[in-house]
Amino acid sequence: MPLIAFASPKGGVGKTTLAANTAYEFARLGHRVVALDLDAQNALGMHFGADPYERAGLITSLKDAASPRHAWQTQLQETPSGIALLPHGHATFAQTFAINTDLIATPELLIAPLKDILSDPEVVIIADTPPGPGAAASVISAIVDYMVVVLLSDAASVVQLPKIDGRGMYRGASGAPFPVEHLGFVVNQIEMRSRLSRGAADAAERHLGSRLIGRVYRDEHVPEALARQSSVADYAPASKAAQDISAMALKVVEAVAPPARTNGGDLHGAGASKETATT
Ligand SMILES: Nc1ncnc2c1ncn2[C@@H]1O[C@H](COP(=O)(O)OP(=O)(O)O)[C@@H](O)[C@H]1O
Ligand SMILES: [Mg+2]
Repeated sequence: MPLIAFASPKGGVGKTTLAANTAYEFARLGHRVVALDLDAQNALGMHFGADPYERAGLITSLKDAASPRHAWQTQLQETPSGIALLPHGHATFAQTFAINTDLIATPELLIAPLKDILSDPEVVIIADTPPGPGAAASVISAIVDYMVVVLLSDAASVVQLPKIDGRGMYRGASGAPFPVEHLGFVVNQIEMRSRLSRGAADAAERHLGSRLIGRVYRDEHVPEALARQSSVADYAPASKAAQDISAMALKVVEAVAPPARTNGGDLHGAGASKETATT
């Protein structure tokens, strides 16, 4: 039942990539995974083999749903990867601003369906959020169990650290900073041959200590895996990136330690079946 969110102060850092590959890691370990795309870029599904031109999605249909609590059921897509996907949906800039306004005014539009999915104790939601401050990311922070913040290994990211390391930017329920055990940082795209890049990763590690849950090196297998709509672990299992990402994802698994699935199940019945399943 945990909700894990990937966030970052800026875009292009590898948030979507690491969210998708963490989803694959949970699935590999036998968990039922719902990958939730909160970014209007609507790019998460591509990692799972979903149709990139599909226009429907959870966020763009929240207001239209007859029952907000069950809004997710008609939007859930099974993907060739075996991971269930809740796409953001296609939206224009104007529609995205309108959705953000609705979410700020009525957080329950998003909280209710997520709580319904999470009422199934076997389901793990991995959410990809838009870069920087966003309505959906802000709304879900009240129910996030673990937040992964992705940074680049450069000077600009290192100087931001005091601002974003939990005392400031990323806050959970009731606006309190995320407790250490619910917040992990990853430095991504470290350049093996760059002293500056390695030095920036070291500086992040000195600042963050055990809160740094991953150092992921820049590796061309990562974009190649995306081009194949595959996980890095499946596409290039022996690659440095596959090892780095797996080590990071396992830290997230350890932090939330959800019960693993022993057999299959129907995700579409997750919320509705809860009452009957326990009787
Ligand atoms: N460790 C890495 N090595 C090489 N390329 C990477 C790595 N992580 C991400 N990328 C690439 O960087 C680009 C941005 O990644 P993406 O996950 O879309 O970032 P974000 O979601 O933060 O905008 C993509 O082309 C992705 O394939
Ligand atoms: Mg992204």
